[in-house]
Amino acid sequence: MMKFPEGFLWGSATSAYQVEGGIENNDWAEAARQGKVTPAGRACDHYNRCEEDFDIAKSLSQNAHRFSIEWSRIEPEEGRFDEIEIEHYRKVLKALRERGIEPFVTLWHFTLPIWFAKMGGFENKKAPFYFSRYCEYVVKNLGQGSDAPRFWITINEPMVFANMGYLKGNWLPLEKWYYPLSLFRYFRVIDNIATSHNISYQKIKSVGPDSSVGIAAHNINFEPSVNSFNRLLAKFLIWFQNHRFLRKIEDRQDFIGLNYYFHKKFSDKKRYEKSDLGWDIYPKGIYNVLMELKRYHKPVYVTENGIADAKDTKRAKFIKEHLYWVKRAIDDKIDVRGYFYWSLLDNFEWADGFGPRFGLVEVDYETMERKIRPSAYEYKKICDTNSLED
Ligand code: FCB
Repeated sequence: MMKFPEGFLWGSATSAYQVEGGIENNDWAEAARQGKVTPAGRACDHYNRCEEDFDIAKSLSQNAHRFSIEWSRIEPEEGRFDEIEIEHYRKVLKALRERGIEPFVTLWHFTLPIWFAKMGGFENKKAPFYFSRYCEYVVKNLGQGSDAPRFWITINEPMVFANMGYLKGNWLPLEKWYYPLSLFRYFRVIDNIATSHNISYQKIKSVGPDSSVGIAAHNINFEPSVNSFNRLLAKFLIWFQNHRFLRKIEDRQDFIGLNYYFHKKFSDKKRYEKSDLGWDIYPKGIYNVLMELKRYHKPVYVTENGIADAKDTKRAKFIKEHLYWVKRAIDDKIDVRGYFYWSLLDNFEWADGFGPRFGLVEVDYETMERKIRPSAYEYKKICDTNSLED
Protein backbone atom coordinates (compact mmCIF):
# COMPACT_ATOMS: atom_id res chain seq x y z
CA MET A 1 0.00 0.00 0.00
CA MET A 2 1.25 3.50 -0.85
CA LYS A 3 -0.42 5.86 1.58
CA PHE A 4 -0.96 9.50 0.57
CA PRO A 5 -0.55 12.32 3.11
CA GLU A 6 -3.42 12.98 5.49
CA GLY A 7 -5.93 15.48 4.06
CA PHE A 8 -4.90 14.82 0.46
CA LEU A 9 -7.50 16.19 -1.97
CA TRP A 10 -8.96 13.82 -4.54
CA GLY A 11 -11.03 15.26 -7.32
CA SER A 12 -11.65 15.91 -10.95
CA ALA A 13 -11.69 19.04 -13.11
CA THR A 14 -13.86 20.71 -15.73
CA SER A 15 -14.01 24.14 -17.36
CA ALA A 16 -17.05 26.28 -18.09
CA TYR A 17 -17.14 26.39 -21.89
CA GLN A 18 -16.27 22.71 -22.14
CA VAL A 19 -19.19 21.47 -20.04
CA GLU A 20 -21.79 24.12 -19.18
CA GLY A 21 -23.60 24.65 -22.46
CA GLY A 22 -25.56 27.73 -23.48
CA ILE A 23 -22.57 30.08 -23.63
CA GLU A 24 -22.95 32.31 -26.68
CA ASN A 25 -21.17 35.47 -25.68
CA ASN A 26 -17.51 34.48 -25.96
CA ASP A 27 -14.91 34.30 -28.73
CA TRP A 28 -15.27 30.52 -29.27
CA ALA A 29 -19.04 30.78 -29.69
CA GLU A 30 -18.58 33.68 -32.11
CA ALA A 31 -16.03 31.71 -34.15
CA ALA A 32 -18.43 28.74 -34.17
CA ARG A 33 -21.16 30.96 -35.62
CA GLN A 34 -18.70 31.88 -38.38
CA GLY A 35 -18.07 28.19 -39.08
CA LYS A 36 -14.44 28.31 -37.92
CA VAL A 37 -14.69 25.87 -35.00
CA THR A 38 -17.19 23.31 -33.70
CA PRO A 39 -19.97 24.89 -31.66
CA ALA A 40 -20.05 23.77 -28.02
CA GLY A 41 -23.84 24.24 -28.02
CA ARG A 42 -25.40 22.53 -25.03
CA ALA A 43 -22.08 20.79 -24.23
CA CYS A 44 -22.96 18.55 -21.23
CA ASP A 45 -25.70 20.89 -20.02
CA HIS A 46 -23.72 21.01 -16.79
CA TYR A 47 -25.01 24.54 -16.14
CA ASN A 48 -28.42 22.99 -15.42
CA ARG A 49 -27.25 19.61 -14.16
CA CYS A 50 -24.39 20.56 -11.90
CA GLU A 51 -26.09 19.21 -8.78
CA GLU A 52 -26.61 15.83 -10.42
CA ASP A 53 -22.96 15.87 -11.54
CA PHE A 54 -21.72 16.76 -8.06
CA ASP A 55 -23.82 13.90 -6.68
CA ILE A 56 -21.87 11.63 -9.00
CA ALA A 57 -18.53 13.13 -7.88
CA LYS A 58 -19.55 12.60 -4.27
CA SER A 59 -20.70 9.03 -4.94
CA LEU A 60 -17.20 8.47 -6.36
CA SER A 61 -15.73 9.65 -3.04
CA GLN A 62 -14.15 12.79 -4.48
CA ASN A 63 -13.53 15.47 -1.88
CA ALA A 64 -12.45 18.30 -4.20
CA HIS A 65 -13.58 19.68 -7.53
CA ARG A 66 -12.00 22.13 -9.94
CA PHE A 67 -14.31 24.16 -12.19
CA SER A 68 -14.14 27.50 -13.94
CA ILE A 69 -16.23 30.63 -14.00
CA GLU A 70 -17.18 31.90 -17.44
CA TRP A 71 -16.04 35.52 -17.74
CA SER A 72 -18.55 36.27 -20.53
CA ARG A 73 -21.42 35.31 -18.24
CA ILE A 74 -20.23 37.54 -15.39
CA GLU A 75 -19.28 40.54 -17.52
CA PRO A 76 -21.33 40.27 -20.71
CA GLU A 77 -20.49 43.83 -21.74
CA GLU A 78 -17.49 45.87 -20.72
CA GLY A 79 -18.07 47.14 -17.20
CA ARG A 80 -21.55 45.59 -16.83
CA PHE A 81 -21.62 42.75 -14.32
CA ASP A 82 -24.42 40.23 -14.09
CA GLU A 83 -25.68 39.52 -10.59
CA ILE A 84 -27.87 36.63 -11.82
CA GLU A 85 -24.83 34.74 -13.07
CA ILE A 86 -23.00 35.42 -9.82
CA GLU A 87 -25.98 33.84 -8.10
CA HIS A 88 -25.58 30.77 -10.30
CA TYR A 89 -21.96 30.28 -9.23
CA ARG A 90 -22.95 30.97 -5.63
CA LYS A 91 -25.27 27.97 -5.95
CA VAL A 92 -22.48 25.92 -7.49
CA LEU A 93 -20.25 26.65 -4.50
CA LYS A 94 -23.03 25.87 -2.07
CA ALA A 95 -23.81 22.60 -3.85
CA LEU A 96 -20.16 21.56 -3.56
CA ARG A 97 -19.87 22.53 0.10
CA GLU A 98 -23.10 20.67 0.94
CA ARG A 99 -21.51 17.54 -0.46
CA GLY A 100 -18.26 18.07 1.42
CA ILE A 101 -16.38 18.83 -1.79
CA GLU A 102 -13.63 21.49 -1.68
CA PRO A 103 -13.98 23.91 -4.62
CA PHE A 104 -10.96 24.99 -6.68
CA VAL A 105 -12.19 27.93 -8.71
CA THR A 106 -10.52 28.85 -11.98
CA LEU A 107 -11.26 32.44 -12.96
CA TRP A 108 -10.22 32.08 -16.55
CA HIS A 109 -9.98 28.94 -18.68
CA PHE A 110 -9.20 30.09 -22.26
CA THR A 111 -12.45 31.76 -23.38
CA LEU A 112 -12.82 35.54 -23.75
CA PRO A 113 -15.96 37.70 -23.65
CA ILE A 114 -16.59 39.02 -27.16
CA TRP A 115 -16.09 42.65 -26.10
CA PHE A 116 -12.66 41.79 -24.68
CA ALA A 117 -11.64 39.66 -27.67
CA LYS A 118 -12.64 42.57 -29.96
CA MET A 119 -10.22 44.90 -28.25
CA GLY A 120 -7.40 42.40 -28.82
CA GLY A 121 -7.83 40.20 -25.75
CA PHE A 122 -4.56 39.70 -23.89
CA GLU A 123 -2.65 41.54 -26.60
CA ASN A 124 -4.20 44.78 -25.41
CA LYS A 125 -1.96 46.58 -22.95
CA LYS A 126 -4.99 47.34 -20.81
CA ALA A 127 -5.80 43.61 -20.51
CA PRO A 128 -4.43 43.39 -16.94
CA PHE A 129 -6.78 46.19 -15.91
CA TYR A 130 -9.87 44.49 -17.39
CA PHE A 131 -8.94 41.04 -16.19
CA SER A 132 -8.13 42.05 -12.63
CA ARG A 133 -11.30 44.14 -12.43
CA TYR A 134 -13.30 41.03 -13.36
CA CYS A 135 -11.41 38.90 -10.81
CA GLU A 136 -11.96 41.47 -8.11
CA TYR A 137 -15.68 41.57 -8.83
CA VAL A 138 -15.98 37.79 -8.62
CA VAL A 139 -13.96 37.52 -5.45
CA LYS A 140 -15.83 40.36 -3.76
CA ASN A 141 -19.10 38.60 -4.56
CA LEU A 142 -18.17 34.97 -4.03
CA GLY A 143 -15.12 35.17 -1.80
CA GLN A 144 -16.80 35.82 1.52
CA GLY A 145 -19.08 33.79 3.76
CA SER A 146 -19.13 30.14 4.70
CA ASP A 147 -19.22 28.77 1.13
CA ALA A 148 -16.36 30.99 -0.05
CA PRO A 149 -13.63 29.17 -1.98
CA ARG A 150 -10.30 28.78 -0.27
CA PHE A 151 -8.50 28.13 -3.55
CA TRP A 152 -8.44 30.39 -6.59
CA ILE A 153 -6.71 29.69 -9.89
CA THR A 154 -6.47 32.92 -11.86
CA ILE A 155 -5.23 31.54 -15.17
CA ASN A 156 -5.25 28.18 -16.89
CA GLU A 157 -2.19 27.23 -18.95
CA PRO A 158 -0.91 30.58 -20.21
CA MET A 159 1.80 28.95 -22.34
CA VAL A 160 -0.68 26.67 -24.10
CA PHE A 161 -3.10 29.53 -24.72
CA ALA A 162 -0.41 31.70 -26.32
CA ASN A 163 1.07 28.84 -28.32
CA MET A 164 -2.21 27.44 -29.67
CA GLY A 165 -3.73 30.84 -30.36
CA TYR A 166 -0.79 32.89 -31.65
CA LEU A 167 1.87 30.47 -32.97
CA LYS A 168 0.03 27.34 -34.08
CA GLY A 169 -3.14 29.30 -34.77
CA ASN A 170 -5.59 26.45 -34.28
CA TRP A 171 -7.28 27.85 -31.16
CA LEU A 172 -8.86 31.22 -30.78
CA PRO A 173 -8.00 33.83 -31.88
CA LEU A 174 -6.80 31.55 -34.71
CA GLU A 175 -3.86 33.80 -35.48
CA LYS A 176 -1.12 32.31 -37.59
CA TRP A 177 1.28 35.05 -38.58
CA TYR A 178 4.76 34.78 -39.93
CA TYR A 179 7.85 34.92 -37.79
CA PRO A 180 9.04 37.14 -36.25
CA LEU A 181 5.73 39.02 -35.99
CA SER A 182 3.92 36.01 -34.51
CA LEU A 183 6.63 35.67 -31.88
CA PHE A 184 6.31 39.30 -30.96
CA ARG A 185 2.56 38.88 -30.42
CA TYR A 186 3.09 35.58 -28.58
CA PHE A 187 5.43 37.18 -26.04
CA ARG A 188 3.19 40.16 -25.60
CA VAL A 189 0.27 37.87 -24.74
CA ILE A 190 2.33 35.86 -22.25
CA ASP A 191 3.69 38.96 -20.56
CA ASN A 192 0.26 40.60 -20.33
CA ILE A 193 -1.15 37.43 -18.82
CA ALA A 194 1.62 37.38 -16.21
CA THR A 195 0.88 41.00 -15.30
CA SER A 196 -2.84 40.19 -15.23
CA HIS A 197 -2.16 37.44 -12.74
CA ASN A 198 0.11 39.55 -10.56
CA ILE A 199 -2.39 42.39 -10.24
CA SER A 200 -5.28 39.98 -9.68
CA TYR A 201 -3.31 38.14 -7.02
CA GLN A 202 -3.03 41.33 -4.98
CA LYS A 203 -6.70 42.11 -5.42
CA ILE A 204 -7.85 38.62 -4.45
CA LYS A 205 -5.62 38.65 -1.38
CA SER A 206 -6.91 42.03 -0.29
CA VAL A 207 -10.47 40.63 -0.30
CA GLY A 208 -9.58 37.22 1.12
CA PRO A 209 -6.18 37.33 2.82
CA ASP A 210 -6.52 33.69 3.87
CA SER A 211 -7.32 32.34 0.45
CA SER A 212 -4.70 30.52 -1.61
CA VAL A 213 -4.08 31.81 -5.11
CA GLY A 214 -2.14 30.23 -7.96
CA ILE A 215 -2.24 29.37 -11.64
CA ALA A 216 -2.51 26.05 -13.45
CA ALA A 217 0.71 25.57 -15.40
CA HIS A 218 0.99 23.10 -18.26
CA ASN A 219 4.48 21.73 -17.82
CA ILE A 220 6.01 19.34 -20.29
CA ASN A 221 8.55 16.71 -19.40
CA PHE A 222 11.47 17.43 -21.72
CA GLU A 223 14.04 14.72 -21.22
CA PRO A 224 17.61 15.16 -22.31
CA SER A 225 18.97 12.61 -24.73
CA VAL A 226 22.47 11.45 -25.63
CA ASN A 227 23.08 13.99 -28.34
CA SER A 228 24.66 17.10 -26.80
CA PHE A 229 22.77 19.59 -28.96
CA ASN A 230 19.50 17.96 -27.90
CA ARG A 231 20.63 18.05 -24.29
CA LEU A 232 21.01 21.80 -24.57
CA LEU A 233 17.71 22.14 -26.39
CA ALA A 234 15.89 20.20 -23.64
CA LYS A 235 17.47 22.44 -21.00
CA PHE A 236 16.35 25.54 -22.83
CA LEU A 237 12.82 24.21 -23.28
CA ILE A 238 12.52 23.25 -19.62
CA TRP A 239 13.40 26.81 -18.69
CA PHE A 240 11.23 28.37 -21.36
CA GLN A 241 8.09 26.24 -21.12
CA ASN A 242 8.13 25.22 -17.47
CA HIS A 243 9.88 27.98 -15.54
CA ARG A 244 9.83 31.31 -17.34
CA PHE A 245 6.19 32.10 -16.56
CA LEU A 246 6.34 30.75 -13.01
CA ARG A 247 9.36 32.99 -12.42
CA LYS A 248 7.41 36.04 -13.55
CA ILE A 249 4.80 35.40 -10.88
CA GLU A 250 7.11 33.81 -8.36
CA ASP A 251 6.28 35.87 -5.29
CA ARG A 252 2.60 36.07 -6.20
CA GLN A 253 1.50 32.48 -5.90
CA ASP A 254 0.61 30.52 -2.80
CA PHE A 255 0.63 27.16 -4.55
CA ILE A 256 1.48 25.76 -7.95
CA GLY A 257 -1.20 24.05 -10.01
CA LEU A 258 0.39 21.53 -12.35
CA ASN A 259 -1.29 20.14 -15.47
CA TYR A 260 0.64 17.21 -16.90
CA TYR A 261 -0.01 15.54 -20.25
CA PHE A 262 3.15 15.55 -22.36
CA HIS A 263 6.59 14.09 -22.54
CA LYS A 264 9.27 14.81 -25.11
CA LYS A 265 12.58 13.07 -25.44
CA PHE A 266 14.57 14.12 -28.48
CA SER A 267 15.92 11.46 -30.84
CA ASP A 268 13.97 8.86 -28.87
CA LYS A 269 12.87 6.01 -31.14
CA LYS A 270 10.89 4.20 -28.45
CA ARG A 271 7.20 3.62 -29.18
CA TYR A 272 4.88 4.49 -26.33
CA GLU A 273 1.34 3.39 -25.71
CA LYS A 274 -1.01 6.12 -26.89
CA SER A 275 -4.31 7.74 -25.99
CA ASP A 276 -7.17 8.14 -28.50
CA LEU A 277 -5.67 11.52 -29.41
CA GLY A 278 -2.34 9.86 -30.21
CA TRP A 279 -0.66 11.36 -27.13
CA ASP A 280 2.11 9.20 -25.64
CA ILE A 281 1.41 7.70 -22.24
CA TYR A 282 4.43 8.35 -20.03
CA PRO A 283 3.55 8.24 -16.31
CA LYS A 284 7.09 8.83 -15.05
CA GLY A 285 6.97 12.24 -16.70
CA ILE A 286 4.72 13.52 -13.94
CA TYR A 287 7.44 12.70 -11.43
CA ASN A 288 10.02 14.53 -13.52
CA VAL A 289 7.95 17.71 -13.85
CA LEU A 290 7.02 17.60 -10.15
CA MET A 291 10.68 17.35 -9.18
CA GLU A 292 11.42 20.45 -11.27
CA LEU A 293 9.09 22.40 -8.94
CA LYS A 294 11.26 21.80 -5.87
CA ARG A 295 12.99 25.14 -6.21
CA TYR A 296 9.75 27.08 -5.60
CA HIS A 297 9.16 25.65 -2.10
CA LYS A 298 5.38 25.80 -2.57
CA PRO A 299 2.55 23.34 -2.11
CA VAL A 300 1.62 21.71 -5.40
CA TYR A 301 -1.75 20.47 -6.63
CA VAL A 302 -1.99 18.38 -9.77
CA THR A 303 -4.80 20.42 -11.29
CA GLU A 304 -5.12 18.25 -14.43
CA ASN A 305 -3.98 14.87 -15.66
CA GLY A 306 -6.08 12.65 -17.86
CA ILE A 307 -6.52 10.55 -20.97
CA ALA A 308 -8.84 10.43 -23.98
CA ASP A 309 -9.95 6.80 -23.90
CA ALA A 310 -13.44 6.16 -25.29
CA LYS A 311 -13.30 2.41 -24.63
CA ASP A 312 -12.09 2.96 -21.07
CA THR A 313 -9.51 0.20 -21.40
CA LYS A 314 -6.49 2.34 -20.46
CA ARG A 315 -7.82 4.93 -18.02
CA ALA A 316 -7.63 2.99 -14.74
CA LYS A 317 -4.04 1.94 -15.40
CA PHE A 318 -3.21 5.47 -16.55
CA ILE A 319 -4.47 6.97 -13.29
CA LYS A 320 -2.76 4.41 -11.08
CA GLU A 321 0.58 4.68 -12.82
CA HIS A 322 0.57 8.47 -12.70
CA LEU A 323 -0.39 8.37 -9.04
CA TYR A 324 2.43 5.95 -8.36
CA TRP A 325 4.84 8.59 -9.65
CA VAL A 326 3.06 11.39 -7.78
CA LYS A 327 3.61 9.42 -4.59
CA ARG A 328 7.27 8.92 -5.46
CA ALA A 329 7.60 12.70 -5.83
CA ILE A 330 5.95 13.16 -2.42
CA ASP A 331 8.45 10.71 -0.94
CA ASP A 332 11.16 12.81 -2.56
CA LYS A 333 9.95 15.91 -0.70
CA ILE A 334 7.61 17.60 -3.18
CA ASP A 335 4.68 18.89 -1.17
CA VAL A 336 1.86 17.57 -3.39
CA ARG A 337 -1.49 18.03 -1.69
CA GLY A 338 -4.08 17.03 -4.25
CA TYR A 339 -4.85 15.42 -7.61
CA PHE A 340 -7.60 16.37 -10.06
CA TYR A 341 -8.31 13.95 -12.86
CA TRP A 342 -9.26 15.63 -16.18
CA SER A 343 -12.16 15.33 -16.51
CA LEU A 344 -15.21 14.45 -14.44
CA LEU A 345 -17.30 14.35 -17.64
CA ASP A 346 -16.72 13.81 -21.33
CA ASN A 347 -16.70 17.30 -22.80
CA PHE A 348 -15.97 19.75 -25.61
CA GLU A 349 -12.27 19.40 -26.39
CA TRP A 350 -11.53 22.71 -28.15
CA ALA A 351 -10.33 22.25 -31.76
CA ASP A 352 -11.09 18.51 -31.48
CA GLY A 353 -14.76 19.11 -30.75
CA PHE A 354 -16.72 16.37 -29.01
CA GLY A 355 -14.62 13.46 -30.33
CA PRO A 356 -12.17 12.80 -27.49
CA ARG A 357 -13.59 11.15 -24.39
CA PHE A 358 -11.71 12.23 -21.27
CA GLY A 359 -14.50 11.63 -18.74
CA LEU A 360 -14.66 9.41 -15.70
CA VAL A 361 -18.29 9.71 -16.63
CA GLU A 362 -19.55 9.07 -20.16
CA VAL A 363 -21.99 11.63 -21.53
CA ASP A 364 -24.55 10.86 -24.22
CA TYR A 365 -24.77 14.22 -26.01
CA GLU A 366 -28.22 13.42 -27.40
CA THR A 367 -29.99 12.45 -24.20
CA MET A 368 -27.50 14.01 -21.76
CA GLU A 369 -27.52 10.73 -19.88
CA ARG A 370 -24.50 10.16 -17.62
CA LYS A 371 -22.90 6.74 -17.26
CA ILE A 372 -20.12 6.13 -14.79
CA ARG A 373 -17.20 4.34 -16.45
CA PRO A 374 -15.56 1.33 -14.75
CA SER A 375 -12.28 3.25 -14.35
CA ALA A 376 -14.11 5.81 -12.20
CA TYR A 377 -14.73 3.06 -9.63
CA GLU A 378 -11.05 2.17 -9.66
CA TYR A 379 -10.23 5.82 -8.94
CA LYS A 380 -12.91 5.79 -6.24
CA LYS A 381 -11.05 3.02 -4.38
CA ILE A 382 -7.99 5.26 -4.26
CA CYS A 383 -10.04 8.23 -3.03
CA ASP A 384 -11.73 6.04 -0.40
CA THR A 385 -8.56 4.63 1.07
CA ASN A 386 -6.28 7.61 0.41
CA SER A 387 -3.86 5.07 -0.89
CA LEU A 388 -2.71 3.14 -3.89
CA GLU A 389 -2.19 -0.57 -3.93
CA ASP A 390 1.38 -1.35 -4.82
C1 FCB B 1 -5.69 20.97 -21.09
C2 FCB B 1 -6.81 22.00 -20.94
C3 FCB B 1 -8.16 21.38 -20.75
C4 FCB B 1 -8.36 20.15 -21.61
C5 FCB B 1 -7.21 19.20 -21.45
C6 FCB B 1 -7.35 17.92 -22.24
O1 FCB B 1 -4.62 21.53 -21.79
O2 FCB B 1 -6.57 22.82 -19.83
O3 FCB B 1 -9.11 22.39 -21.02
O4 FCB B 1 -8.59 20.51 -22.90
O5 FCB B 1 -6.02 19.83 -21.82
